[in-house]
Amino acid sequence: MRIEFLGHELQSPIIVGSSPASWNADAMIACHEAGAGAVVTKTINRNAADNPDLHMVSAGRETLINCEKWTDLPMAQWLDDELPRAVAAGVKCISSVGHSIEDSRLCVERLEELGAMAIELVSYTDDTVLPMLEDTKRRVDIPVIVKLSPNSADLMGHARRCVDAGADALTACDSIGPAMRIDIETGKPLMGGADGCGWLTGAAIFPFTVARIAALRKAMPEVPIIGLGGVTQWQDGIEFVMAGADAMGLASAAILHGPSFITRMNARVDAWCTDHGVTSLDQIRGRVHEHLPVEQDDGYAMGFSHEKCRHCNACVTACAYRARAFDEGGYALVDESLCRHCGLCVSVCNFGALSVEKGGIR
Ligand SMILES: Cc1cc2nc3c(=O)[nH]c(=O)nc-3n(C[C@H](O)[C@H](O)[C@H](O)COP(=O)(O)O)c2cc1C
Ligand code: SF4
Ligand code: SF4
Repeated sequence: MRIEFLGHELQSPIIVGSSPASWNADAMIACHEAGAGAVVTKTINRNAADNPDLHMVSAGRETLINCEKWTDLPMAQWLDDELPRAVAAGVKCISSVGHSIEDSRLCVERLEELGAMAIELVSYTDDTVLPMLEDTKRRVDIPVIVKLSPNSADLMGHARRCVDAGADALTACDSIGPAMRIDIETGKPLMGGADGCGWLTGAAIFPFTVARIAALRKAMPEVPIIGLGGVTQWQDGIEFVMAGADAMGLASAAILHGPSFITRMNARVDAWCTDHGVTSLDQIRGRVHEHLPVEQDDGYAMGFSHEKCRHCNACVTACAYRARAFDEGGYALVDESLCRHCGLCVSVCNFGALSVEKGGIR
């Protein structure tokens, strides 16, 4: 599905976040050809990064930890070769620039001349972003996006200050950390940086991101938001939009599964939209806010579908209150006298056999 974003028509709502999936022009072109609406460059800095060996590991379950810095290519290479090549290939390029005004003032005008559709500013501390933003806004006419850090002590206040200082859009959010994993055979940390730590991305951070997007959308209804952080299945993109995002950002999924993930996700998102009569994401954007605050109601009861139950046992073992047991027919029925209506069994059933309903058991 095509979308309008920051004055551009994008071929899809998927925006690839700054990461190894966008480490050079060829990687960006591969994402574009796979269907990405836009691609954010790996963060450009005045010095090429020197990353330690072992700077990216899988933490299992579609989750990554990395201690990778910004781009390991010189700024001049981005300006002379990578960005012009990506733009010439038709990539809608968002140029990520960090992490201080000394870096941004060296390149933002040139990035605009080369055809970047927007600049995305990123830094390690909130204090360094605002001067970068104010300076960049004076230097360029293209939109300037600020990438928010979920590690900020005052994410909402910082977001507001950025918008007041002229940010045209927000990316919510960056990776979460610090995070550590240990090899239990050696006792060594899996990350190769001096502190053994890195930053968490992928599935583990998804619910956190959804909450941040929802809060930002509620506080700033008009500000364009790139949702980013934790997308690992196509449904996650829809969820981002229902929280209030304008675009579906992802990085870890494109790293772990390659650019073809984007093609598959676009196809499934489009199919879902067709099935649900959605012709524009505007129809579903921020839908969660129609249901907030959640109505507090004790009148729920557990629903059970005999047709859908596959007798897998997941709900029975997950119930801490032992309220579910198999009947003689092998159906995992609930004992309402024990059930606390916590809802867990409904979410662990992979077959859609369970539901919570108002007004009695189906
Ligand atoms: C290996 C790796 C390197 C990254 N490098 C950058 C970077 O240079 N600049 C940046 O702004 N974000 C960087 N990110 C963060 C991503 O852009 C994104 O915010 C984060 O991965 C969360 O999205 P995800 O869960 O879809 O991966 C990096 C992420 C990963 C996994
Ligand atoms: S809702 Fe909670 S208490 Fe009730 S059956 Fe399910 S898991 Fe057990
Ligand atoms: S988790 Fe679902 S499919 Fe499995 S036993 Fe329970 S109701 Fe049946």
